[in-house]
Amino acid sequence: MPVSASSTSQGLENSRVPPVRVYIPLGDRSYPILIGNDLLGDAGSYDAVPSAASALIVTNTTVAPLYAQALQQAIAGRYRRVDVLALPDGEAHKNWETLNLIFDALLGHGSDRKTVLFALGGGVVGDMTGFAAAAYMRGVPFVQVPTTLLAQVDSSVGGKTAINHPLGKNMIGAFYQPQLVLCDLGTLATLPARELSAGLAEVIKYGPIHDMAFFAWIEENIDALVARDPAALAHAVKRSCEIKAFVVGQDEREAGLRAILNFGHTFGHAIESGLGYGEWLHGEAVGCGMVMAARLSQRLGGVDVAFVDRLTRLIERAGLPVVGPALGAERYLELMRIDKKSEGGEIRFVVIDKPGSAAVRNAPDAVVREVLAQCCAA
Ligand code: NAD
Ligand code: GLY
Repeated sequence: MPVSASSTSQGLENSRVPPVRVYIPLGDRSYPILIGNDLLGDAGSYDAVPSAASALIVTNTTVAPLYAQALQQAIAGRYRRVDVLALPDGEAHKNWETLNLIFDALLGHGSDRKTVLFALGGGVVGDMTGFAAAAYMRGVPFVQVPTTLLAQVDSSVGGKTAINHPLGKNMIGAFYQPQLVLCDLGTLATLPARELSAGLAEVIKYGPIHDMAFFAWIEENIDALVARDPAALAHAVKRSCEIKAFVVGQDEREAGLRAILNFGHTFGHAIESGLGYGEWLHGEAVGCGMVMAARLSQRLGGVDVAFVDRLTRLIERAGLPVVGPALGAERYLELMRIDKKSEGGEIRFVVIDKPGSAAVRNAPDAVVREVLAQCCAA
């Protein structure tokens, strides 16, 4: 049944959804994801996190004034010292220079190898803080406190951390798992509408690659999700985290299965780096990239045209672009060769081999050119 679409972002702040837990099963690196309201400012949410002499909250200049103080107060009892570092905001800052600001702060504050990092923000802050935690003194504990929909349903979970390089997206990084992921749904109330749509791209992704019943649920509830209905958002975050936990639990370091989580990302990363980081949001590029990847899947025989149209329509209803920028087919191909799935310069695409199931495949350049001609602006 569709949930009510009557709530507004104001309603999101005021409504209460019972907290739920999803576990990431990784042996001695297992951890919980807590999903609910009013978690961020509640000291009890952090019971599983190690105490230490100090903690550093890494956030950015947009999120700091909204949530840093509440987090700082909530964890104050666990650490003698809690510092806050606000990085410059945006994908264009997900680089070495900004990463170094985290190391400057850690060393400047005399942080030791038990210092706990808290990543407070979207995927950019989460990816950079996780990478800093992996590298500082060869590894310190960290906690993800994601405040965008995209980060709550995807980037904060699973331990992929990275920065961008001008030549390629997320090309420098590490696998490094957090101690806890804390998804406070109330923080989504302040998220700009464009960012909410970007997060919906990663929610939609889980349908074609793993769970068509969830896909049908998103189709029924897309208006409620765009309107930030609390119950709809809570279900979308929980089900997305469950699917991600299932995949990561089987293939933490992407030896095989985990690659399916990159559906739409090969085309999407080319859009992001081709246009310049930050021009299109990551979720926008992934949404449009899924249309391209679905079209490629159809050419390779995995799905029919009706499926491609169905997915395209849902992505559009989520407020996302479905026509790719006119970078030119050769530029797309050049950019897509710089991808972590590429082997020997050969591009490997995540395609849908039947609705609800994905696989990694090669595709002839000629077919990819046809797909790009069909899916991009002239
Ligand atoms: P983002 O981190 O840039 O956040 C989007 C914008 O929303 C920013 O301007 C941010 O300051 C602002 N913001 C964050 N929370 C807010 C709030 N509650 N209220 C108001 N404004 C808020 O972007 P994102 O979409 O969260 O993350 C995208 C990044 O995540 C990309 O770099 C992508 O590569 C990465 N990613 C990583 C993984 C992974 O597995 N590690 C998976 C998917 C995406
Ligand atoms: N977002 C892709 C992954 O976590 O593997």
